[in-house]
Amino acid sequence: MNLETIVVHLGQEHDEFSGAVIPPIYATSTFAQSAPGETKGYDYTRSGNPNFSNLETTLAAVENARFSTVFASGMAAITAVLSTLKAGDLVVAEENIYGCTYRILDQVFDKFGVSVEYYDFTERESLDAISAKEPAIVWIESPTNPLLKVIDIKTVAERAKAAGSILVVDNTFASPCFQRPLDLGADLSLSSSTKYINGHSDCLGGVVATNSEEWRNKMIFAQKAVGLNPSPIDAWLISRGVKTMPLRMAKHHENALAFAKFLESHGAVKMVRYPYLECHPQYELAVRQMSGGSGIVTANFDLSIEETKQLVGKFKLFTLAESLGGVESLVCHPASMTHAAVPASRREEIGISDGLVRFSVGIENSHDLIADFNQGLDRVSRGI
Ligand SMILES: Cc1ncc(COP(=O)(O)O)c(C=O)c1O
Repeated sequence: MNLETIVVHLGQEHDEFSGAVIPPIYATSTFAQSAPGETKGYDYTRSGNPNFSNLETTLAAVENARFSTVFASGMAAITAVLSTLKAGDLVVAEENIYGCTYRILDQVFDKFGVSVEYYDFTERESLDAISAKEPAIVWIESPTNPLLKVIDIKTVAERAKAAGSILVVDNTFASPCFQRPLDLGADLSLSSSTKYINGHSDCLGGVVATNSEEWRNKMIFAQKAVGLNPSPIDAWLISRGVKTMPLRMAKHHENALAFAKFLESHGAVKMVRYPYLECHPQYELAVRQMSGGSGIVTANFDLSIEETKQLVGKFKLFTLAESLGGVESLVCHPASMTHAAVPASRREEIGISDGLVRFSVGIENSHDLIADFNQGLDRVSRGI
């Protein structure tokens, strides 16, 4: 089956009991047993629920994986993976990972003796660190949040495999629609399904996809033992949202590319990043590794920090908000919002400057979005 068919049919089976075309929401914490231990496959929602199973079937197929395990949020999925580590283990991570991934490594798992070292994985020499350090986990995102660096997943996977390390790819920004990390050699593909997979900004979710039975068991254990499960209602909402993912992603790509090209030719823009823009430093890798550029555009304007902060509040269609990947356009100022958890000195080092603005380009009409940007910039320059 192709992706468009998978998302509509797999894990979306009709309800046998009533014939309901749409699977119902199993809003229950527990399940009746006919005798102690005799169940119909579910005993307690923390360790499983039909809405989780449905979504796991869909998302495994979407990632071309044997298994997927769903969680309460992207951070819950990240916690599940990191909870498999023990004191003394090392994580080698891309330096531009999501701010809260950085925070959980530095402020939570560090306390339990897990250490982390950061590298710029767009530099080939950084790959030597994998061979030299043989870490338990290599952790990358591609494209990264918010700088949209594109990392060569296949090459990192080869190095990780040779070093006996597990490669985790946070696939949130690309979405499984445009990038399948497991096909490129990753061991785990992780996403915040809060973003493109659900696509409607109305719930939180996370998912880890893998072809390894051992890792599938570790993820089920974490779901239950650490209590990282989603709610059945949120799982159901994501099952609904994912049906339109291929349609939405095509429009996100089209709009973001148009917006990025517009910004590229705009005098007020110092730098614009979009994986499918030819001026992107890893453009060739991006078009080889991803089948679309996704919907995030990052730009730096020739404005002071104060003007930048004003600008992000002046739009009417780009709502100033955390998050990304919904049908509606959002804008954020990473230094003071999504990446505020990263110390200022570190932000400066890795390029998350105070003037950086991240746009999550939605599925509206791209001319309307460009007009909205123009009116926002105009209001800043006129001080209104
Ligand atoms: C790349 C990336 N990974 C993980 C997360 C965490 O996801 P959630 O907010 O669903 O916990 C985010 C959230 O923005 C993200 O951007």
